[in-house]
Amino acid sequence: MTVRITFPKTDTAPKGHVVLTVFEGEELGTAAKKIDKGLDGLAASSIKRDKNFKGKAGQTLSLYAPEKSKIDRVTVLGLGKADALDELKAEEAGGKLFAAVGKSGFKDIILITEKSKALKNELMAAHLANGFKLRSYTFDRYKSKKKDKDSAPELAALKVLSSHPANSKAAYNSLANVTEGAYWARDLVNTAPNDLYPESYAKQIKDELKPLNVDVEILDEKKLEKMGAGAIMAVGKGSERQPRMVIMRWNGATKKKGTKTIGLVGKGVTFDTGGISIKPGAGMDEMKMDMGGSAAVVGTIKALAANKAKVNVVGIVGLAENMPSSNAYRPGDIVTSLSGKTIEVLNTDAEGRLVLADCLTHMQSKYKPDVIVDLATLTGAMMVALAHEYCGTFANTDSLWAELEKASADTGEKLWRMPLDEEWKKEMESTVGDVRNLAKSGRYGGACTAAGFLEHFIEGDVQWAHMDIAGTAWIKSDRPTVPKYGTGFGVRVLHDWITQNY
Ligand code: BES
Ligand code: MN
Ligand code: ZN
Repeated sequence: MTVRITFPKTDTAPKGHVVLTVFEGEELGTAAKKIDKGLDGLAASSIKRDKNFKGKAGQTLSLYAPEKSKIDRVTVLGLGKADALDELKAEEAGGKLFAAVGKSGFKDIILITEKSKALKNELMAAHLANGFKLRSYTFDRYKSKKKDKDSAPELAALKVLSSHPANSKAAYNSLANVTEGAYWARDLVNTAPNDLYPESYAKQIKDELKPLNVDVEILDEKKLEKMGAGAIMAVGKGSERQPRMVIMRWNGATKKKGTKTIGLVGKGVTFDTGGISIKPGAGMDEMKMDMGGSAAVVGTIKALAANKAKVNVVGIVGLAENMPSSNAYRPGDIVTSLSGKTIEVLNTDAEGRLVLADCLTHMQSKYKPDVIVDLATLTGAMMVALAHEYCGTFANTDSLWAELEKASADTGEKLWRMPLDEEWKKEMESTVGDVRNLAKSGRYGGACTAAGFLEHFIEGDVQWAHMDIAGTAWIKSDRPTVPKYGTGFGVRVLHDWITQNY
């Protein structure tokens, strides 16, 4: 479903499905009152008579207009307490609005906004619209039958009336670019692993980002082999579909002394069977989402480029398929990573850290970033700890954590700080080689020891954060009829972090 969202200058005679907004504990505002007058005050009296409707943020009340009216249906959207409204709350209300009216059978919906105390009307309108867009995402690539003949029309357009339409539109456009980045990340996670594999994924990244003036370089298996990226190559060895490393550069900042370079690294395991240390069969299909970290990275770069952000960012994603075969790497193998450090493989299912190791090394040796954030669906242990709600984030400086925490509060993508500890780094030292991919002590604190492994590949005093998005990259529905979906997690918080701090 693609809903076209516009900000027309006026609409003198709204018809069809009209949405009015109201603040908690207040009467209808001026704009809503004007509409309600033509409805003989039906909206105001419905609000009064409904015992549940309080105007809380995102609460809705729907009614049908009198037959004589050009308006058919009215939905009243609560925005909560007027002095508590902020950008995030407006966005959440916009999302809930879509949930309530997106399938109401009207092709067009018009949203009439009011003056607001705490948040400029023009911004409120933009954020309501963006929340609506975020929620309207669908994925129907694999449905051969697009629509039922006798189903109600699909929503095609949302018109938003605001005090300064041009300003709303400009604000919305930049928000929508971020949403489009998140959409792409969702699409990538949702794509079946027979379609999304390292080579096809790399090509898609190039096709999507080149037109936005992002410099894209694809390293294929021959180049990776030659440069000595033995860790990512080991992971991909068991698959017909050989690894790729994709480097994306967005140089939006004017060259000045002191301009920082930001490095984003993503795990892109397009399917994780576990390899020779094979995973149990039940739920293995879920491992198509094991490229969620890379999806967040490419989605963020798309958003930054679309917004022409004045920042310099390098993204590196490591793409590989972890398969068992006579060619596959095995427990017991000792491989040499790009850094020169040898890795003792004790479990081929702990593959993500190998992929990241080579990407982190390439990032540091070639691009010397001031700060690096990596994202990966790295451990089941992260899900045990924080489920689908929070993304555990390991940061090696308090200042980087403070920046990320702020971006998390701004966007509602929840991060929770996790500890890095010298002991966990030591846990990952090997007796026969340099490092091992499995903690000596076993599975306790698995997300922390995984971070300890990655720390072996962080050089000097570069600022670094590792986000384990195993739980947040996707929604697992407990209803068997509802599919598991990619969330696009990471795009919004990273875009906010980068544009607010660099
Ligand atoms: N991709 C998985 C982690 C994962 C599990 C992500 C569930 C999302 C949902 C990762 O490659 C993995 O298999 N990790 C192992 C590591 C272990 C062998 C040390 C795990 O968490 O079990
Ligand atoms: Mn694995
Ligand atoms: Zn994995």
